[in-house]
Amino acid sequence: MTNPTAVDDHQNLVSKTYLSKAVDVFSDHDLNQLLTNCRRNNAAASVTGALLYHNGYFMQLIEGQLDAINAIYDRIQADPRHEVLSVLFEDEISARFFPDWTMGYRAAEDMPLDSLNTIYETAKVSTTRFPINDFLLMFGESN
Ligand SMILES: Cc1cc2nc3c(=O)[nH]c(=O)nc-3n(C[C@H](O)[C@H](O)[C@H](O)COP(=O)(O)O)c2cc1C
Repeated sequence: MTNPTAVDDHQNLVSKTYLSKAVDVFSDHDLNQLLTNCRRNNAAASVTGALLYHNGYFMQLIEGQLDAINAIYDRIQADPRHEVLSVLFEDEISARFFPDWTMGYRAAEDMPLDSLNTIYETAKVSTTRFPINDFLLMFGESN
C-alpha cells in the first residue's frame, strides 16, 4: 500500500472539512464497508484524514494535494448515501494533521460533546481558523 507521507511534498497541501447528513442510518456494517472503500481510494491518491459519525451526521476532514482533494471530494459529493453537504473549512496547510491515517474513524457518541460544539460554533463565525485542537482531541493523541 502507498505510504501517504512518503510522497508528501508540502506543496499545494490543503485540508477540507465538511458536514453531511446520512440519508439512512448507517449500521456498523455500512460504516465498515464505507471505510474500506475510502481507505483504498485515499491511499491511492495519497489523501489522509479523519471521519466522525454522530447521530446520523458525518464530519470528515480530508487532506492532501489540491488536485487529489478536489477529486476525492467530487467522489464524496456524488455518494447518494448522504446529503446537504456543507464545507466548514478549507485551508492551505504546511503539514498533515493525520499523516498516518488514510481515514481515521470515530463514532462521536463517546467523544467530548464540548469539542464537537466548539467546532460547529467556530465554523459558524470563521471560515479561516480551523480548531484543529478540538478535532484532534476527539481522536486522542494516537490511533
Ligand atoms: C460520509 C462519507 C465519506 C466518504 N469519504 C470518502 C473518502 O474519504 N474517500 C473516497 O474515495 N470516497 C469517500 N466517500 C465516497 C464513497 O465511499 C464512494 O462510494 C466510493 O468512493 C466509491 O468508490 P468506488 O467507486 O471505488 O466504489 C465517502 C462517502 C460518504 C457517504
